[in-house]
Amino acid sequence: MPVEETDTQVIVTLPSDPTTKVTILKYGGTVISWLNKGNEQLWVSEGAFLDGSKPVRGGIPLVFPIFGKQKDESHPTYPLPQHGFVRNSTWEFLGQTTANPPTVQFGLGPEQINSDLLKLWDNGSNDFTLILTVKLEAEKLTTEIEVENTGSKKFEFNWLFHTYFKIPDITDTLINNLIDQKCYDQLLKEHYTEKSPIISFHEEFDRIYQSIPLDKIFQIIEFGKVLINVRRLNLPDAVVWNPWIKKSEATADFFPKTGYLNMVCVEPGNVSSFINLNAGEKWKGGQELSIGGEIKVQTNI
Ligand code: BG6
Repeated sequence: MPVEETDTQVIVTLPSDPTTKVTILKYGGTVISWLNKGNEQLWVSEGAFLDGSKPVRGGIPLVFPIFGKQKDESHPTYPLPQHGFVRNSTWEFLGQTTANPPTVQFGLGPEQINSDLLKLWDNGSNDFTLILTVKLEAEKLTTEIEVENTGSKKFEFNWLFHTYFKIPDITDTLINNLIDQKCYDQLLKEHYTEKSPIISFHEEFDRIYQSIPLDKIFQIIEFGKVLINVRRLNLPDAVVWNPWIKKSEATADFFPKTGYLNMVCVEPGNVSSFINLNAGEKWKGGQELSIGGEIKVQTNI
């Protein structure tokens, strides 16, 4: 059966290969597993809560309408918790839209969001519909989001796919094609231009790469082999994050504590600026994750 729905999740299987499947938790609209030919591509903490009591630590949590915590007290997103409220709301399964490649959709609107949380964004005055589309192909997973302003006034928001990739060893992992991109280092609290032709990891890493040309594809590479290609669709920014030792220790649902060795977050988003959406308007963004292929070095394009 290509699409199977339970009370809490939806499992989509590739018709031509039963060992390729994606599992989406209705809570958070969170992709919690992507098996490609039986191999898991996403990292999920063994301490993650999958019962709807907390955002999932791993997989692909969804971030809206604010990335991180808003510091500007005058902004309507200021009262919101870190990363907003959709990663901890239960999405409605809307069904399958295409049989092959199998594609499913989930929807979320204010009526499905806890009213206390909703009130924290502009006193609950914004009306919106979010549609999440998940498409599974051989060697490829695409997740897309459409945000529609169904209210009568404009609002502004961030979007981010907080994707946790499963990797063999962070100390052997490289990410390319970020050279010459502007970034904000969340640890140093400094803006600078990335000068490394390839990123490697030796300590906690938390950088927001900003306004990157959309034809740049990031590749997660280990020992000369491309593990994953990350392509962005209408999402100019990308956060790269690894919590390393102390932050993993301090994060209650991060388990095992050595798990930082086996994960890296590469998070396509629109977070260094806000997307403005007038009443009645729609906006779309997405990420396309694919496996393997050649190393492609892209300099300034
Ligand atoms: C990343 C941020 O996107 O998410 C980090 O850049 C943050 O600063 C991380 O620590 C995890 O956030 P959370 O809210 O899931 O613990």
